Amino acid sequence: MTARIVPADAAAIDRAAALLRDGRLVAFPTETVYGLGGDATNDAAVAAIFAAKGRPRFNPLIVHVPGSAEAETLAVFDDRARAVANGFWPGPLTLVLPRRPESGLSLLASAGLDTVALRAPAHPVAQALLQAVGLPIAAPSANRSGRVSPTQAEHVANELGEPVSLILDAGSTAVGVESTVLDLTGPVPVLLRPGGVTLEALNAVLGPIAAAASDEAPPRSPGRLPSHYAPERPLRLGAIEARPGEALLAFGPGEAPSGFAEVLWLSRSGDVAEAAANLFAMLRRLDRPEFSGIAVMPIPEEGLGRAINDRLRRATAR
Ligand code: TXA
Ligand code: MG
Repeated sequence: MTARIVPADAAAIDRAAALLRDGRLVAFPTETVYGLGGDATNDAAVAAIFAAKGRPRFNPLIVHVPGSAEAETLAVFDDRARAVANGFWPGPLTLVLPRRPESGLSLLASAGLDTVALRAPAHPVAQALLQAVGLPIAAPSANRSGRVSPTQAEHVANELGEPVSLILDAGSTAVGVESTVLDLTGPVPVLLRPGGVTLEALNAVLGPIAAAASDEAPPRSPGRLPSHYAPERPLRLGAIEARPGEALLAFGPGEAPSGFAEVLWLSRSGDVAEAAANLFAMLRRLDRPEFSGIAVMPIPEEGLGRAINDRLRRATAR
């Protein structure tokens, strides 16, 4: 049996909520990427998420809630956490905070850490689902572990089959890269994963933010595992000329270099937000055996460009 894709209308959202309450897994859209959701208070449901993704158990999951009120029952918020939650929730920001002992969350979701990653997504379908289910929902990106995150319902269906009871389809996701993961458990905020909320925007609220150490063991944010977000074909970054048989992900505003077997434009105008929204779907489209590899033109290291370059660098690590 293949996973079922249904348009995310009110009836489908109600059905998804009932399945989640029953301990089943449901894939749903957020503004960043599609998530594979399960009841975060149910050990069996959380274990099923790890199994469906082939995800190592040491890599904790993000717990999704409608907003700050629900989040504050699960984790301890300080002034910094309130300030960024006020500024960026609902939205593409995940906060790592001390988990409340009485949270009721499955310890598996936190992979044994005494912290929890919380996010209030802005997508109306995610919001409606979270309100309807009335439970915190653990949801990693709905891809096989180590692969490219899904930005369309079909990507989920192609990669994860039977264990997913329902896939709510709301078309392509708007942001296209995963949420920013910010660790607020120490004296200085630490950026564990660049993502949909830019470092510049966070700096404006919090001041200086530390970069996560690159070779931590065990990793505090396994989205930072060196090999991650990987297509099958080798990826070559900062490309300015063609190599035989390569396809190109182009980025404007200039011309694309000639000689590539196929060219897809991340953004013709050089808009990093547009490029982020296109990144994962275009990587999937070019990941075909007829190409010797995928080359990517240079992307500026600013705004959403940071998240794009982070994912591309990890995708080149083998
Ligand atoms: O945009 C997103 O964040 C998507 C949508 C579905 O919400 N979710 C997502 O989940 O990207 P996932 O599991 O693919 O990535 C979660 C990241 C991982 O890098 C994980 O290591 C980190 O969050 N994380 C989760 N809990 C953590 C914790 N307690 N401490 C540190 N990092 C944590
Ligand atoms: Mg992921």
